[in-house]
Amino acid sequence: MHNAAFAALGLDWRYLAFEVNPKNLRAAIEGAKAMNFAGLNLTVPHKLLAVEMVDMLDESAKTWGAVNTIRFDKKGAIGFNTDADALTQSLREDLKLELRGAKVLLLGAGGAARTAALKLASEKVAELFVVNRTQSKAEKIAGETKKQFPSVIVSTGFPKAKVDLILNATSLGLKTDDSSPLDEKQFSLKEARAVYDMIYRPAETKLLVAAKKSGCKTANGLGMLLHQGAKAFEIWTGKPAPLDVMRRALEQNVYGH
Ligand code: ATR
Repeated sequence: MHNAAFAALGLDWRYLAFEVNPKNLRAAIEGAKAMNFAGLNLTVPHKLLAVEMVDMLDESAKTWGAVNTIRFDKKGAIGFNTDADALTQSLREDLKLELRGAKVLLLGAGGAARTAALKLASEKVAELFVVNRTQSKAEKIAGETKKQFPSVIVSTGFPKAKVDLILNATSLGLKTDDSSPLDEKQFSLKEARAVYDMIYRPAETKLLVAAKKSGCKTANGLGMLLHQGAKAFEIWTGKPAPLDVMRRALEQNVYGH
């Protein structure tokens, strides 16, 4: 999507992928800076590690505690986070969801779930239920979210009443033989208005198939992927991202149509 966007704007830039061992992350960031790269994107497992390795943190990276975008400029390496805003933008666009006052069941308690919990709380959802295989991690995220956003009711475990949104932030569903991240004996999809799966490949996880059958509004994580990329593009280039071009390139590359 970035290369398509550069081409559309007539920029002689290139977006390339590099696999970096976490133990070499600091050297890789320094190397990119030395080679006059405009910036970097980082993904799992580098987003948390990079917080300690950049010269400065933008407000977004400070707030969400993870760096997925770096811009190199005169001041050095500046760390940003574009994931959090991208999530809520996609929830609004793709599910037409009003977040303020919403009740949300969050599945997962890894890095992606943590960013989601804090961002949803900052958007003033009314209630947040965190469910995770490893209960202690759910409790840690619930505790942190409550502390930062005391007005939001945060708990672990399944809700006792209907929710506006179920958000999957686990990695369950990435592989085709994965089971659904939601135990429907514990919480029925009939009790949810909408379901968002951060996973975008496959386009329809078991969770989304079941959610559709139960009459929920559904969306996958492609919109989040698009918007985190578009925001990074704007950070690097200082120009508005050509969203339609980027969306088309994404769909073409991810789904082949
Ligand atoms: P990310 O940065 O993408 O969030 P992560 O931090 O490794 O990745 O988090 C993965 C999430 O998926 C966690 O919530 C994890 O549950 P645990 O905290 O119990 O590990 C969840 N997950 C991964 N595989 C799972 C499985 N087979 N069953 C249930 N949950 C799983």
